[in-house]
Amino acid sequence: MVQKHELIDDIAEVLFTEKQIAAMVERVGQEISRDYKDKNLLLVSVLKGSIVFMADLMRSINIHARIDFMATSSYGSGMKTSGVVKIVKDLDIDLEGYDILIVEDILDSGKTLSYLLEIIRSRNPKSIQLCTLFDKPERREVDVDVNYIGAKIPDEFIVGYGLDFDEKYRNLPFVGILDPKVYS
Ligand code: IMP
Ligand code: MG
Repeated sequence: MVQKHELIDDIAEVLFTEKQIAAMVERVGQEISRDYKDKNLLLVSVLKGSIVFMADLMRSINIHARIDFMATSSYGSGMKTSGVVKIVKDLDIDLEGYDILIVEDILDSGKTLSYLLEIIRSRNPKSIQLCTLFDKPERREVDVDVNYIGAKIPDEFIVGYGLDFDEKYRNLPFVGILDPKVYS
């Protein structure tokens, strides 16, 4: 018997099942493997939201790839970014000569990614591209060019598969819309 997930009562609607996410990640991994065949790929994961995606994505890439991590904090309410982004943990690898692919969980206003892009560009890598699992295009305030997208989603607050609310729900294996009763 399948056991009911203890956190399911906080989820208004399941948007992507584990199986759907796996298919999405596999597709993106294949695209990256094809595009970066003759390049010097360094995957840069933005902590903490992208760790689950990163862990699966790197295994769906079948060419040489290096990984590194970076953590930012943004001063905000927990549900959206203020735009003031600070580096909390920097990369270990010197970016010169690498083809960087930034791996993010979700693109919302675009402030976090555009700030990260600026920092990474200033370190003179060979190239920089962006990969995000989810994209909420309706919410964009800053224009960002994303090269790989898992799925576009409506303007809803989602959790699971790495995505949090108040640092919780990251461990949900699927992605769902958080029930507003949790935060209102
Ligand atoms: P942006 O700077 O507004 O694009 O915000 C991106 C960051 O906001 C993501 O890395 C997430 O940490 C957070 N975020 C935005 N939308 C959601 C959501 O629906 N669920 C969980 N986190 C979100
Ligand atoms: Mg977050």
